[in-house]
Amino acid sequence: MRAHVRDVQDFPQPGVVFKDITPLLATPAAFGAVLDALAATARRLGATVVAGIEARGFLLAAPVADRIGAGIVPIRKQGKLPGPTVTESYTLEYGTAVLEMHADAVGAGDRVLIIDDVLATGGTAAAAANLVRHSGAEVLGLAVLMELTFLAGRSQIPSLEVTTLLAI
Ligand code: PRP
Ligand code: HPA
Repeated sequence: MRAHVRDVQDFPQPGVVFKDITPLLATPAAFGAVLDALAATARRLGATVVAGIEARGFLLAAPVADRIGAGIVPIRKQGKLPGPTVTESYTLEYGTAVLEMHADAVGAGDRVLIIDDVLATGGTAAAAANLVRHSGAEVLGLAVLMELTFLAGRSQIPSLEVTTLLAI
């Protein structure tokens, strides 16, 4: 799997080595294996809803939801969802950003697995988990394709079960 993740120097800014998953997404056998593994996690945890985080998280969350027969709920950046939303601010390397989810997207009785491509500093995942929890649903955990362990993102989400397919 690591062989399909490409290192890109100095993206998005000088000094950063960006781990680019687009070669993996473009390789059907590798992409299929990733979806199988994420779907197995979702089934093991008994997920009834998959929440995907914009944008790259959507690429994984939607096919996993389809595989397990669950609904997909989009967690989006500010200003993209049309209905009444719940919102959560989170910290980026520089400044803050906001994630939103439709207020009626999940509720009591829903068992939600959050899926994203990458766990880096953990701010995005923490905000997503708060959105789901504040809506009254149960957060089963976070499943990601790749975890950048040197950024210690798990420390932001100590109460979440994290499943990682590739730890770097
Ligand atoms: C990336 C990635 C995760 C998040 C992880 O998304 O897809 O969602 O950063 O970072 P964190 O753990 O430090 O919060 P980005 O905001 O770059 O958006 P994109 O998916 O739209 O490219
Ligand atoms: N790769 C992909 N997504 C990311 C990275 C990275 O290196 N860092 C933060 N989000």
